[in-house]
Amino acid sequence: MRELHDRYFRQAKREGKLARSYYKLAAIDRREKLFTPQVKNIIDLGAAPGSWLEYVLEQPASRVVCAADLKVIAKKFKPSVHFIQRDINDLPLDAFAPFCDKFDLVLSDMAPNTTGVKIVDQARSLELCEVAARFAAQNLRAGGAFVAKIFAGEATPDFVARLRTHFAEVKTYKPDASRDESFEFYVIGKDFQGINN
Ligand SMILES: C[S@@+](CC[C@H](N)C(=O)[O-])C[C@H]1O[C@@H](n2cnc3c(N)ncnc32)[C@H](O)[C@@H]1O
Repeated sequence: MRELHDRYFRQAKREGKLARSYYKLAAIDRREKLFTPQVKNIIDLGAAPGSWLEYVLEQPASRVVCAADLKVIAKKFKPSVHFIQRDINDLPLDAFAPFCDKFDLVLSDMAPNTTGVKIVDQARSLELCEVAARFAAQNLRAGGAFVAKIFAGEATPDFVARLRTHFAEVKTYKPDASRDESFEFYVIGKDFQGINN
């Protein structure tokens, strides 16, 4: 589906978006209705170059927007975006506490640098998802939602099953803008049940 990939790439150029990833979040949102008027405090893990942030900032209810990535984000977003450049593995769970008590939505589009060795890439992707899920468990308000990119692998069903113990509803989805040949998909957890569940 190279043609579809190119279509989203061209659309991003035409519409001035930083990356075609924008259309992945847009598709997840169309399907899952993530950005309700109650969703005001949002964090984006693995946010560079910033196309998910572009989408988040277009949502009328967005109030506190936080982001983290290993890489710097070159685009100058409004000062209300709190960005920390850090490896997620070294990011304290309360790193964003000065800006926000609890988040309504935790997003992670983090992906490891791929090696081409499928099993290695899957394991690294899973590690990033585990860290993102720990961050979400600590920082989501009850009822909040979590979205994470994962490279499908043998251990994926176990990760999804564990999420089901924390969220009332857990789904998986591969948006059109995600290349067919890529083994990435998104896991979406809704209605967070709280950390003690
Ligand atoms: C697919 S890109 C994210 C694209 C972004 N959602 C957008 O729309 O612009 C994946 C990002 O994950 C980040 N990443 C990978 N490993 C990370 C880590 N250990 N800590 C923080 N960020 C990480 C990468 O630096 C990269 O910017």
